[in-house]
Amino acid sequence: MQRNIPVITLSILDQERFGVKTAKSRDFIWHDIPEMLSQCRQNYVQLLIARCPSSNLKTAQELERRGFLLMDTLVYYEHNLHLTNIIVPNEKITIRGILPGEAEDVRALAAESFKGYCGHYHADPKLDVHQCDDVYTSWAYNSCISKDFATEVFVAVLDDKIVGFATLRINDPKESEVVLNGVLPKTQRMGIYRMLIENSLIWSIRHCMKRMIISTQITNIAVQKVWVRVGFQPTSSFYIFHKWFN
Ligand SMILES: CC(C)(COP(=O)(O)OP(=O)(O)OC[C@H]1O[C@@H](n2cnc3c(N)ncnc32)[C@H](O)[C@@H]1OP(=O)(O)O)[C@@H](O)C(=O)NCCC(=O)NCCS
Repeated sequence: MQRNIPVITLSILDQERFGVKTAKSRDFIWHDIPEMLSQCRQNYVQLLIARCPSSNLKTAQELERRGFLLMDTLVYYEHNLHLTNIIVPNEKITIRGILPGEAEDVRALAAESFKGYCGHYHADPKLDVHQCDDVYTSWAYNSCISKDFATEVFVAVLDDKIVGFATLRINDPKESEVVLNGVLPKTQRMGIYRMLIENSLIWSIRHCMKRMIISTQITNIAVQKVWVRVGFQPTSSFYIFHKWFN
């Protein structure tokens, strides 16, 4: 079967944040790796972030042989938007769309909830931990101010304070995705995250979506518990490797 030439995509956001020329690659298999590496060298890439399906062990092993280091395993879940077990909402907590002027509150919330998070950036000892935290805080902030990052942002409000957020995106006419979410550490374990997810499901149904997808680090058990309880099913998983070029 004829395959497309693997492409690396330069990541301007990562380059600006870490001061390191960074590229990303996905949708490749083991025999594309030499071409992928050659494209990196031609473009003076310093860090390549490569993602491959965890079912494709041959590709993962070839990456290992070539000096890539495993940083993360992502798991994807999907909901078919047939709701069966929505719980009674907590009356003290309101879930609503973000209002103008609240982007800074969401940035501050993300800074607290994602401090030292378990994603692939934080797993790489060559990257500065504060700049890794900033991946999530700036992503949350940008999602509040630009439709390029999120179609909608919901916040959870307790005693007039924003204590949780969820960003949503419509990927295509049938599929929505919950992209980024967090709950203030002080108000965790009160069911706020579950309320945000249930609200996102209802939003997707109202937008005539057929499915909603969501993903996380395999070690993030808290969110996966919620997903299974509200009717999500696991669908796929991916390894994320980093390769540094000297
Ligand atoms: C994960 C997170 C969103 C959960 O928010 P939450 O409002 O506390 O979640 P809920 O109250 O709905 O609880 C969900 C389950 O996760 C558990 N949980 C919540 N926080 C937890 C934590 N820090 N460690 C372990 N378990 C946790 C709860 O106890 C509950 O399980 P239980 O019913 O068996 O006790 C929140 O901890 C957070 O913001 N974490 C950092 C950012 C993050 O992981 N975002 C999601 C990225 S996909």
